[in-house]
Amino acid sequence: MSVGIDKIGFYTPKFYIDMVDLAHARNEDPNKYLVGIGQTRQAVAPVTQDIVTMAANAAATFLTAEDKQNIEMIIFGTESGIDNSKAAAMYLQNLLELSHEARAFEIKQACYGATAGLQMAVDFVKLHPEASVLVVGADIARYGINTPGEVTQGAGAVAMLVKSNPDLVEIEEPSTFYSEDIMDFWRPLYRSEAIVDGHYSNNMYIDFFTKTWEQYQQKTNQTMNDFDAFLFHLPYTKMGIKALRTILTDDDHSQKIWQEFEAAKKYNAEVGNIYTGSLYLSLLSWLANSTNVKQGNHIGLFSFGSGAQGEFFAGRIGPAKKRLEIKDQVDEMLADRTLLSIDEYEEIFNARKPFESADYQLDTSSENANYYLLGQKNHQLIYKNANEK
Ligand code: HMG
Repeated sequence: MSVGIDKIGFYTPKFYIDMVDLAHARNEDPNKYLVGIGQTRQAVAPVTQDIVTMAANAAATFLTAEDKQNIEMIIFGTESGIDNSKAAAMYLQNLLELSHEARAFEIKQACYGATAGLQMAVDFVKLHPEASVLVVGADIARYGINTPGEVTQGAGAVAMLVKSNPDLVEIEEPSTFYSEDIMDFWRPLYRSEAIVDGHYSNNMYIDFFTKTWEQYQQKTNQTMNDFDAFLFHLPYTKMGIKALRTILTDDDHSQKIWQEFEAAKKYNAEVGNIYTGSLYLSLLSWLANSTNVKQGNHIGLFSFGSGAQGEFFAGRIGPAKKRLEIKDQVDEMLADRTLLSIDEYEEIFNARKPFESADYQLDTSSENANYYLLGQKNHQLIYKNANEK
């Protein structure tokens, strides 16, 4: 029985900044950001969007009433948690009106959380072939104004429905993984911005990719030539280029893999780092933008979460009947965004206060998403489903 991703949905907030504007404001050469980092735009989340609302907006792009009934597990991968105790999956279950006969919980391991969720979901469906699992990765990446990491910020959520006989991607066995306690990137409980040792984190990413890819080749006797595309966690799109450079040569097959990577980085370059969802945004980007996607294509996926955990695994493309529909949805969402000036972005960035105990009510007059945050009352976050009058 094949098990994997049957449906995928994406949401990113309606605001963005242009990397050329950011470069000018930070006295950098725009080509450093456009070419050296490989980002063109960056999503900016207003205070009315958090991980719960972004995840709900992403999942709502595909969930039918029947899907909602069949979901037996809701796994929320995030490193931007909104509560020290209660899982964001509970709020999501309520907002999306999902079945209560479900396990619902949150997973944290930096950008790796959604991959842990996906693998757990696949194992669960193998044991319970009639069941579906909703896996989401949602985050707001914050490094701080005028920091080296600023150009790699972003915000968004990817939601996936894992089922037997999936339309999009069958997840294969085996996968190879490597973990080690390192301090490349972390966010202490008292901070809303990450602390990062940027160049060290790049080196660790490559090191973990090399280790898991070599282990994969030994375990399976497969080589680069057995794959049609390689997809990566993309904290910024140049990171994928750096990883590919470690395995590609100038032969014809390598040229083909480079070409596929162009499609796989398109959406990530326009959104920025969305942490847990980043690898799956790249998968979506490839499915939507490559002209070579065919049933049976073999893809390699590398997931990395600082701290750190790496995993390499493979997938087989299914009929992928829904991929052009998803492309239209995402293209429209990205085209409908509003460009902010750098001053406007800084104001929004600073308005996201550290968690505080007082009641507050947000100005939601310009919200156009289905799901958004209204404010806080009696220490409880209050969410709105705009479909519910
Ligand atoms: P930096 O020090 O400002 O940049 O920070 P740089 O000086 O290293 O330059 C970047 C690149 O631009 C270099 O290319 C330059 O040569 C080039 P490279 O050597 O890397 O190939 N460059 C130019 N190119 C064209 N024209 C020019 C020009 N000038 C320079 N004029 C850094 C860069 C990525 C370190 C910083 O943005 C940062 O700290 N970002 C956050 C950390 C990060 O994203 N790490 C990635 C690996 S860790 C990871 O993926 C996990 C993560 O997602 C978190 C999680 O798991 O939760 C981050």
